Amino acid sequence: MRIRGRRYRTIWLAADGWSVKVIDQTRLPHAFVVRRLTSLGDAAEAIRTMVVRGAPLIGATAAYGLCLGAREDASDRSLDVGRETLLAARPTAINLRWALDKLRGVARGVPVEERVGVLYAAAAEICDADVRACEAIGRHGVELIRAAKVGKRGRGPVNILTHCNAGWLATVDWGTALAPVYAAHDKGIDLHVWVDETRPRNQGANLTAWELAQHGVPYTVIPDNAGGHLMQRGEVDLCITGTDRTLISGDVCNKIGTYLKALAAKDTGVPFYVALPHSSVDWEETTGSAVPIEERPEREVTHVEGRAPDGSTVVVRVTPEGSPVANHAFDITPARLVTGLLTDRGLCDASPAGLFRLFPERRAGKGDPSPPARMAESRVPGGGG
Ligand code: MRU
Repeated sequence: MRIRGRRYRTIWLAADGWSVKVIDQTRLPHAFVVRRLTSLGDAAEAIRTMVVRGAPLIGATAAYGLCLGAREDASDRSLDVGRETLLAARPTAINLRWALDKLRGVARGVPVEERVGVLYAAAAEICDADVRACEAIGRHGVELIRAAKVGKRGRGPVNILTHCNAGWLATVDWGTALAPVYAAHDKGIDLHVWVDETRPRNQGANLTAWELAQHGVPYTVIPDNAGGHLMQRGEVDLCITGTDRTLISGDVCNKIGTYLKALAAKDTGVPFYVALPHSSVDWEETTGSAVPIEERPEREVTHVEGRAPDGSTVVVRVTPEGSPVANHAFDITPARLVTGLLTDRGLCDASPAGLFRLFPERRAGKGDPSPPARMAESRVPGGGG
């Protein structure tokens, strides 16, 4: 990603070689602030308070969090306690557990005094692998967008609707749902993105809009309830969202409101794709109701934050004093509503057969499909397993 002419990732090691720098996403879009994390507690707090967010970036931050903890104490007991602390920071994104289990596995069998170096190397590889995976999602996804463009026979840009933020801010770089958008835009394919504002945290209005603008991609922010209307009018050619956890059944857990967009897409015949790296697949769970759905503070619903004309940040109440509130952060979109899963190994059906076709090593319940990933051929449009 390029911000004001400078290349960034969302997470990197500071010049001291051990502390960790992240972009403070709670300050965007109005201020670009970099935060330094120096302890496992800092990393857990950054995840919990959504200084960093988005499933792959949560995983990467947790990995470095465990490294920071290991600098203090790299014993088995300390690593186990650190893992539990980081796991408790946010419950839904599977990448958190995936990254921690990977690091915990790497440390096993390594003498305690050698563990810090080994863990840092593994955390760096998690970040590099995420970038490679997201680039691959972009390469595969371009073909979907190109096919949509051909299908339009020159009638205007390809209109893509996305929900929440699944761009480079949600990953280490490139993004999941937005990786194909950036790749297609860079190849000169005429496109435009409908950006769901994504109440209550406004990840669409704040983050997706900001990063699309940084990259020069045409976009329009819409209220969360507008997507169905636009689909009925033929103004959406395809939907692409990210996911915090996709079950082996093909059911997709993502930001609250994703399900409603998928329902509208099904009703109007708009293809609905979900983009994900392999680290977002839950290879064990088949039942959506078993996924822990994070419930966040009432204040995110009762209040909104924005920028006042004098440049200060203001927070104002939007509900009557004392209103009861529910704030479920994620929902489950059943596989039957998903046209295809756009993975780092290509496109597949949202089904066990589809996922196992691309990741056969997981059928035996073993092996991690980490890059260098075998690149399966993309199939467009409409998935296929
Ligand atoms: O609550 P958030 O902002 O962490 O939720 C993020 C999302 O729902 C994204 O769509 C998801 O993590 C996929 S990101 C690549």
